[in-house]
Amino acid sequence: MPSQNSLEAIGHLISKEPYYLSTGDEAEMFEAAFNARLPVMIKGPTGCGKTRFVEYMSYQLKRPLITVACHEDLFASDLLGRYLLKKDETVWSDGPLTRAVRMGAICYLDEIVEARKDTTVVIHPLTDTRRTLSIDKKGELIHAHPDFMMVISYNPGYQSVLKDLKQSTRQRFISLEFNYLEASKEAEIVAHEGNIDIKTASKLVSLAKKIRNIREHGLTEGASTRLLIYAAQLIDQGISVYDACRSAVCFPLTDDVRLQETLNDLIEDIF
Ligand SMILES: Nc1ncnc2c1ncn2[C@@H]1O[C@H](COP(=O)(O)OP(=O)(O)OP(=O)(O)O)[C@@H](O)[C@H]1O
Ligand SMILES: [Mg+2]
Repeated sequence: MPSQNSLEAIGHLISKEPYYLSTGDEAEMFEAAFNARLPVMIKGPTGCGKTRFVEYMSYQLKRPLITVACHEDLFASDLLGRYLLKKDETVWSDGPLTRAVRMGAICYLDEIVEARKDTTVVIHPLTDTRRTLSIDKKGELIHAHPDFMMVISYNPGYQSVLKDLKQSTRQRFISLEFNYLEASKEAEIVAHEGNIDIKTASKLVSLAKKIRNIREHGLTEGASTRLLIYAAQLIDQGISVYDACRSAVCFPLTDDVRLQETLNDLIEDIF
């Protein structure tokens, strides 16, 4: 049986153009990095469009995308592959990273800081001029397909001393900085993804901008574009704006009752 990780990370070509609203020259930069065979690191808060951007670029560059969500129990072997017992035989099964390296896919390691330290040993030779992947268990050294590209994402907001990326890892990537978009563009996205009118979407965005400003008072992260889209989708289902904002924007952010009251006041102010 393939591991859950490899099941989740079966690479695919994206056939329909993902909706993506550009914020600057990030697509141009990504394409230049792809052409120059440079690995890319995408930094930004949760729900600001990192994954959507990588899907969009995968579509634009016509390369399959293999995504791996990193977590603290992710071993190097989850990326590389392992021997599996099939009937009486042991057969090798490539992990998602190995598949991407062989087929020339974009390998997207989501939340790389969460991964165990042994995974960095694996990605270092892949992300410098060597572009090789060493599979010790098989005694195999793979030279990456010319179209293979490594992309990692990382949320600097969660950064702790323990979980920061090492300089030797950071300095192997070019870095694209993402953030929540300017109000008019974010509203356009919320209206599009949530199927609501632009006026209501703009109000949701101004609520989020206010919440992002009160971050110092105990919120570790502001309301994401993703949460605004959730609120919009509830509104589209006929839920009142006030209830949608409470359930999709206010409650997910915090368990602190006083903070929830503050957020409630903001909702009442705006709508
Ligand atoms: N520039 C954009 N163009 C189109 N849609 C966007 C854009 N930015 C955000 N979105 C919308 O916001 C949603 C959340 O974005 P996405 O999943 O890419 O966030 P993320 O940065 O990968 O978050 P996380 O760090 O939590 O994984 C997307 O599903 C998409 O609907
Ligand atoms: Mg993501």
